[in-house]
Amino acid sequence: MEKTAQGWDEASTFFGAYMNKDGFTGRFCKDALNQTIGLDKPSGSIRVLDNAAGTGALTFNAVHQLSQIKEVTSFMINACDFSPKMIEKLDIIKKENNVNNIETAVMDGQNLIFSDKTFDYTYSIFGLIFFPDINRGFNEMFRVLKNGGRTAVTSWAVDAPLLCSLYEAYKQTTGTEYTDSRTVLTLSDPEDFKKHLEQAGFVEVQVNRVVHNFELDSIPMILDGFKSNPFFLSVTCKLTSEQLPKFTENLTKLLQSKNTSTTGKVCLPSAAFVGSGKRP
Ligand SMILES: C[S@@+](CC[C@H](N)C(=O)[O-])C[C@H]1O[C@@H](n2cnc3c(N)ncnc32)[C@H](O)[C@@H]1O
Repeated sequence: MEKTAQGWDEASTFFGAYMNKDGFTGRFCKDALNQTIGLDKPSGSIRVLDNAAGTGALTFNAVHQLSQIKEVTSFMINACDFSPKMIEKLDIIKKENNVNNIETAVMDGQNLIFSDKTFDYTYSIFGLIFFPDINRGFNEMFRVLKNGGRTAVTSWAVDAPLLCSLYEAYKQTTGTEYTDSRTVLTLSDPEDFKKHLEQAGFVEVQVNRVVHNFELDSIPMILDGFKSNPFFLSVTCKLTSEQLPKFTENLTKLLQSKNTSTTGKVCLPSAAFVGSGKRP
């Protein structure tokens, strides 16, 4: 499900509402930008790729960051995703905010249509981890980067509360481990993540663990939002209709035990890795 565009189309409304510039994934985008653009003194005309852009959390943060650098005279962000609905939502946000320097396209992130050495920076924020062939994803991110350009990719850590609770709730409900592929945890081993970046040809490789709070008003609101998310659906579709209410109860209790909010809302400190490298 998480490997198909239709699977992600369904999640586009939730992403447009909560995974935006200053939303949850937007916080990891700021880390990715700091670990790349933040190390350079970019100047002149800059071209950026947001691969598997969703509704544009990285794209709109890159617009903001590049606009602040007076040495950057112009810039263009290419935001691509294989889900037409994600791109549709990104286009609406772009129009609402009257931003001109974003070009969007529906595209498979493993087969980019761009020429070699087009971009100064390439990113994939919790996107490449879902590609059926992640090595091809890394190779494409490298191929389209100019010499001296930098890339950043993010992945989840195994202790990210939503993910570990999802698999634990499955186990508590069914009495067995969830044995299918845990695609959402691809690159959750930082050493393996580093090797993938190095194998693609990147140098100055860093993989840093970062933690940001996932905040929403209530646990039912989180579960409602994630019921359209394909990685969540790939687990719940294995449950019978009799098991589903028990699963929801187990998951709710697990998330409540990880909730650090003192205001009656929900706050889940969530760990991820930001991997970056430079094309020599
Ligand atoms: C978890 S969302 C992340 C979206 C966005 N980068 C963010 O951080 O909010 C994963 C995104 O990857 C996209 N995606 C997954 N596989 C893809 C592929 N093979 N090619 C292009 N996009 C892909 C999905 O459509 C979805 O928008």
